[in-house]
Amino acid sequence: MGFMYNLIRSQFFTKLPVPTSSFAGQTVIITGANTGLGLEAARHIVRLGAEKVILAVRTVAKGEAAARDIISSTKVKSNTVEVWQLDLSDYESVKAFGARVATLDRLDAVIQNAGILTNNFDVLEDNESHITVNVISATLVGLGALPKLKETSIRFGVKTRLEFVGSDMQWIAKYKESETSGSILDALAKKEGADMGDRYAVSKLLLLYTVREIAARQPLGKARVIVDCVTPGACASDIFRDDMSWLRSVIQGFMVSLFARTTEVGSRALVHGVKPDLEDNAHGAFLQDCKVFPNGPNVDSPKGQQWAQRWIEEFFPKLESIQPGVTKVLS
Ligand SMILES: NC(=O)c1ccc[n+]([C@@H]2O[C@H](COP(=O)([O-])OP(=O)(O)OC[C@H]3O[C@@H](n4cnc5c(N)ncnc54)[C@H](OP(=O)(O)O)[C@@H]3O)[C@@H](O)[C@H]2O)c1
Repeated sequence: MGFMYNLIRSQFFTKLPVPTSSFAGQTVIITGANTGLGLEAARHIVRLGAEKVILAVRTVAKGEAAARDIISSTKVKSNTVEVWQLDLSDYESVKAFGARVATLDRLDAVIQNAGILTNNFDVLEDNESHITVNVISATLVGLGALPKLKETSIRFGVKTRLEFVGSDMQWIAKYKESETSGSILDALAKKEGADMGDRYAVSKLLLLYTVREIAARQPLGKARVIVDCVTPGACASDIFRDDMSWLRSVIQGFMVSLFARTTEVGSRALVHGVKPDLEDNAHGAFLQDCKVFPNGPNVDSPKGQQWAQRWIEEFFPKLESIQPGVTKVLS
């Protein structure tokens, strides 16, 4: 199966089911929930009866507008939806968010959805923006929430879920930074020669390697936390919002109108990846079209396995250098 075959089959011939599993009594966090896929996933989860849904957003005013929109469309009690500040371009904000998560009484699911796609080479914190936001901070958010997800699973005897939103673009990442004989993170931080057309795909590939490693180090045992990586498929959202020439934006707009899903439809895949009755085989898996999907050649080939191992060897110590002790939650 190739990338194009999957894309066509998924976008034109696959209908994502409307989520129906009850979230009654549950607390769920969704990052980047003020717009796009995150907003629609939050709306579904509120509709499905969650006790508390936390919209984790970088601009609180945008989060509050989203909360009002969700409350008026679902007619739930206003205290069902909370807005918490989280900026993935700032490690201190990510750490503070983790500390706040620890104060929750329970936490049943997290959708680490916030992410970026840009052609600009920008540096945020100590790396290029896709690497900082889509990979490093995304992982820190997940690891920061994991203790509470484990605790909730044991205390209430439930399966809890930690989802990272990835992308099918990881299938076709060229990942030429892997050719360096030195540090991969240093290669990704270098502006000169950066292939920004490939960078989003690379970030989602590195995220998938990381998700698989977290799942492998956190097997389902006494604490049952399902850790997965979900792609919503191509959706018409604000993800392409910045820095497009008018020609590119016209072409992109045409492609999007031709085959993209709405964010509501795409969000069904996000909700599926955290549903309370999610099957155990989702643990450590790449999910597409609401089912466990092949990881693709960049993961399963011998070359992909080498890439993953090398990434993990460098990345986990890096996480510790940013937030000492953060990986200790992995048993
Ligand atoms: N749309 C697609 O076709 C597609 C396909 C595959 C995967 N995905 C993934 O789906 C996820 C959601 O994307 P989307 O399509 O819904 O895009 P979107 O409409 O652009 O939403 C992205 C969300 O992430 C937030 N965000 C960006 N940078 C952030 C930061 N530094 N700190 C905190 N929040 C930040 C945005 O907040 P602001 O509004 O404040 O910027 C926004 O809420 C992303 O991970 C994306 O990679 C999308």
